[in-house]
Amino acid sequence: MSQDIWLFGYGSLVWRPDFEHRERRPAVITGWTRRFWQGSTDHRGVPEAPGRVVTLAPEPGARCHGVAYRVAPEVADQVIAGLDHRERGGYVSVALEVQLLGPDPRRAPARMYLATPDNPNFLGPAPVPMIAQQILRSHGPSGPNLEYLLRLAEALRDLAAEDDHVFALEREVRDLQSRR
Ligand code: BEZ
Repeated sequence: MSQDIWLFGYGSLVWRPDFEHRERRPAVITGWTRRFWQGSTDHRGVPEAPGRVVTLAPEPGARCHGVAYRVAPEVADQVIAGLDHRERGGYVSVALEVQLLGPDPRRAPARMYLATPDNPNFLGPAPVPMIAQQILRSHGPSGPNLEYLLRLAEALRDLAAEDDHVFALEREVRDLQSRR
């Protein structure tokens, strides 16, 4: 690669990029909505008891806020290989256009990770209380599923990003915890 690339993160990459980058920018994509519809058997759950992590579902007119990272060409291949490995449980990387926010707003080509319904770990939609209960009981090698949800919600608040699905789940887990 000869030019910087942009990587768009809307899940754990928002709060834990763990790769070298030159710039971090709030960003938004259109036509996609963030959903806790992907099963996690290798990070936030185990094969016998999968957790739930985010993927994107197509939805005309929807906006999904996240973060774009600018990665230098010398490390881009290594960064992508690392993410391909980390996200091998059902995600594929796809090209898209992102809107970079903040000073100097502009559009840029980017890559992101997507788990589509044809992957074996896909769980799909469920009522918010059921997803919240699954998140509360799930743990995996990367830690509690609850940590993933709460960190994502906190990071989205820091970005002043709206996300009805994530914040409804956050409220639901707090409610369930307070009733235990
Ligand atoms: C992310 O954008 O944070 C992300 C989501 C799913 C898989 C890999 C990365």
